[in-house]
Amino acid sequence: MQLIDGKKTADDIKREIAMEVEAMVADGLRRPHLAAILVGHDGGSETYVANKVKACEVCGFTSTLIRKEDDITEDELLAEIDRLNKNPEIDGFIVQLPLPKHISEQRVIEAIDPRKDVDGFHPVNVGRMSIGLPCFLPATPSGIMELLKRYDVPTRGMRCVVLGRSNIVGKPMATLMMQKGYPGDATVTVCHSATKNLEAICAEADIVIAALGVPGFVKASMVKEGATVIDVGTTRVPDSSRKSGFRLSGDVDFENVAPKCAFISPVPGGVGPMTIVSLMRNTLLAAKGEIYK
Ligand code: GUN
Repeated sequence: MQLIDGKKTADDIKREIAMEVEAMVADGLRRPHLAAILVGHDGGSETYVANKVKACEVCGFTSTLIRKEDDITEDELLAEIDRLNKNPEIDGFIVQLPLPKHISEQRVIEAIDPRKDVDGFHPVNVGRMSIGLPCFLPATPSGIMELLKRYDVPTRGMRCVVLGRSNIVGKPMATLMMQKGYPGDATVTVCHSATKNLEAICAEADIVIAALGVPGFVKASMVKEGATVIDVGTTRVPDSSRKSGFRLSGDVDFENVAPKCAFISPVPGGVGPMTIVSLMRNTLLAAKGEIYK
């Protein structure tokens, strides 16, 4: 069994990005610039955005954090997005989700210029991904593809089961695993809450990508000997022994599943650290104008 170390891989990639940025600066170019809009004071969102700002520092990027109170109107938020769309100093930006209930997340996402949509959430980027055109890939699936590549996990002709059909993980993950080339060329099945015989389908998979958000859902009996298991779950489970009051729990019963696997990614330290790195890579691509020429 080989453990897929997302923390180490993410640190390696951040170093690679930082070297590229210093080379750009030496050539007289400005540093890539990522902006983030954070509405309100949600604990999880505060942590995610702080980690994104920290990753920008490590990569040598400029970052701008725009904070708004949660009584901001949708029109005010859309006006802020318009300013970022038009600001030539900003290469890419994100609006951290979730947003307060009175604001339409879909309207907000569609207001972002696809050329600056480094989250890859705009329908233009989603559509381009689905037909294999250059685009900003969503962070989590992109990070998983990078892990599969760097660990030389075989994917061609493999049976891949994706558990979960969310717009930001399950659906794009299935799209990328079935695309031509490596990593890809897999035969993909997507399972969800209405799937019958999910356990049996899962047990036939060479690659299981679990993105349900149900702690410990994937049991040893559902995993074939020699399979690769990628755990995307990051559910906060109350834990009074921790200073934070919670621990992160994956979708996989790691202790019992790991001995059967060829490769397995843990939680924490697997997919999680890779998602922020994907955002950094998209920002670098935006700064270099490499997606929309
Ligand atoms: N909230 C949880 N994950 C994400 C993400 O990847 N991007 C944004 N903008 N918000 C999120």
